[in-house]
Amino acid sequence: MTSIKLLSITALLCISGLAVQAADKPALETNNCAATGNLRGDAQAGQDVHLEHCAECHGYDGKAEVIVMHMDEPPHDQTDVEYMKKLNDQFLYLAICKGGEAIGKSLVMPGWGDLLTDQEIRDLVAWIRTFSET
Ligand code: HEC
Repeated sequence: MTSIKLLSITALLCISGLAVQAADKPALETNNCAATGNLRGDAQAGQDVHLEHCAECHGYDGKAEVIVMHMDEPPHDQTDVEYMKKLNDQFLYLAICKGGEAIGKSLVMPGWGDLLTDQEIRDLVAWIRTFSET
């Protein structure tokens, strides 16, 4: 009886592990950074990813007040409403997925499409929007 239970638990763990793996594939692999549909995901989830990967350059609040060496073109203040209004969600998604060079900006901005999932990038777009409420 116990061994049957153990077996089914192991099987369950394997199945959920597979599901997680499939969902965890990076955006470049799953959609080639195609910015389609509603690009604003879950802002709260985006905040965690932002703190982990983006805040060192953009600041936790998007103001980019942090000092980063060797940046000829420092990040813009993303709380600037006039600036952010001009950038649509596709642009933000592409900037994150493919990096600064792909959108005609500084190549210091790395592309994240081979690390983050499509969902994580959508969550980031939603979180960045909260800085300017645009
Ligand atoms: C190594 C520093 C660095 C890191 C890390 C970084 N960025 Fe950037 N980011 C930049 C720079 C520099 C620019 C471009 C500034 C310019 O050319 O106007 C930029 C531009 C952008 C833009 C284009 C819109 C704008 O503000 O002009 C977005 C969106 C963006 N970054 C989001 C992110 C997100 C989300 C992350 C984390 C996944 C991230 N960045 C990580 C430095 C960085």
